[in-house]
Amino acid sequence: MTRGTKVFITLLLGATVYAGAGCNKVQHPEPELPTPETLVLPNLPETPYGYAEMQFPEAWLNDPALALFGGFGETANITDAGATLGRVLFHDVQLSADNTVSCGSCHHQEHAFADATSRSVGISGTPLLRNTPGLFNLRYQRRLFWDLRVAGLANQVLQPIGHPDEMGMDLEELADKLDALPYYPALFEAAFGDAHISLDRITDGLVQFLMSIRSHQSRYDEGLANGFASFTSSELTGKEVFFRGDTRCNQCHSGLNFFSTQAFINGLEMDYGAVGDAGIGELSGSPTDDGRFKTVSLRNVGVTAPYMHDGRFADLRAVVDFYSDNIVQHPYLDERFSDNGIGPPGQEPYRLELTETERVGLVDFLHTLSDTSITVNPAFSSPF
Ligand code: HEC
Ligand code: HEC
Repeated sequence: MTRGTKVFITLLLGATVYAGAGCNKVQHPEPELPTPETLVLPNLPETPYGYAEMQFPEAWLNDPALALFGGFGETANITDAGATLGRVLFHDVQLSADNTVSCGSCHHQEHAFADATSRSVGISGTPLLRNTPGLFNLRYQRRLFWDLRVAGLANQVLQPIGHPDEMGMDLEELADKLDALPYYPALFEAAFGDAHISLDRITDGLVQFLMSIRSHQSRYDEGLANGFASFTSSELTGKEVFFRGDTRCNQCHSGLNFFSTQAFINGLEMDYGAVGDAGIGELSGSPTDDGRFKTVSLRNVGVTAPYMHDGRFADLRAVVDFYSDNIVQHPYLDERFSDNGIGPPGQEPYRLELTETERVGLVDFLHTLSDTSITVNPAFSSPF
């Protein structure tokens, strides 16, 4: 295919993306190409890592809470070469307009691909509105973002690249920019059979990489297999508190993934809109959605501080103290936070008044959900 045709196809795809987003086209700076002196090449293993063989265990496939999402599209078709391409794309600053920001600049592997700051900063220097969430077990995330505004990972991954505050790249220029870098044509060829670079293929590579980050090998999972024989007494106390009827933690953070596809109001504010972010309420305009946010997975929560959509809590102890003593009455506060746990929303919040031992235990228990098989796995690390 000639270069001219390729540009034409890229333009067409770009147009579809913008039309789909239904928004005005943002002005982007001209993408900068690196000079040979500044260009860093990816360092990849001779034999690709075995992404295709990474699978969820049987128990996950049979988990009733997860089975609910069985209807969610196809399992991503992951090949070793496709996910390798995705790994390079994910960690490559060349995907940003000025070659300074990659997905990995905000999504850090050691933090289960979350950021350690409450509001990440990208290319524009303007802090983003919300806390950067961890990225793992995305197979089960039918809708993405704290306000669930995007359905399906394939519809999400190009957005940060084009976002003026994140990576600021003109998507119409992206395929040509990658084509001009020495390492991409071969990576695309290995993944797709020929070296053509398109937004669809960039999307596919990123999705394959992200879908392969599966977190199911924590101390908690070991405990499930051996009757929690290696848990300390404090971790056992915390586990009991977490699953206990009065706290109802597991009624929202449920199943093996400790999450829900539903969004809830967990009583951080009386009026979220008034303090700047109503979550789903920003989209629906309905008071019943004021402060309704995604119920994020608690897996790896020990390494994803700070917490909540705005990163307001610096550590897990602050989160536990909040649920114990400080849930705020909100007109549509979820009923699980009332004394009885049932009835209409908006009831007076419970006051658990957990003991010191219970608080420490709950924090210790949450730490057992951390999984080094993703946080130090070279298959997910930056190749640059
Ligand atoms: C400048 C920081 C920044 C960069 C760069 C960035 N992200 Fe994010 N990412 C965020 C923030 C903040 C959110 C949450 C936004 C929201 O919910 O409104 C997010 C959310 C996500 C989510 C949704 C997760 C979920 O569970 O809902 C995915 C997936 C994701 N990012 C993937 C990527 C990919 C892929 C790239 C690179 C192409 C990338 N991000 C680049 C900050 C960043
Ligand atoms: C009614 C549903 C519900 C219940 C019950 C619930 N949570 Fe949550 N939890 C949420 C939602 C929704 C969020 C995100 C809220 C936000 O960011 O505005 C959240 C956030 C969190 C976070 C922060 C995660 C992160 O990555 O930022 C932790 C930790 C947490 N909950 C622990 C608990 C514990 C421990 C309990 C029991 C004491 C509990 N939750 C009970 C719905 C619930």
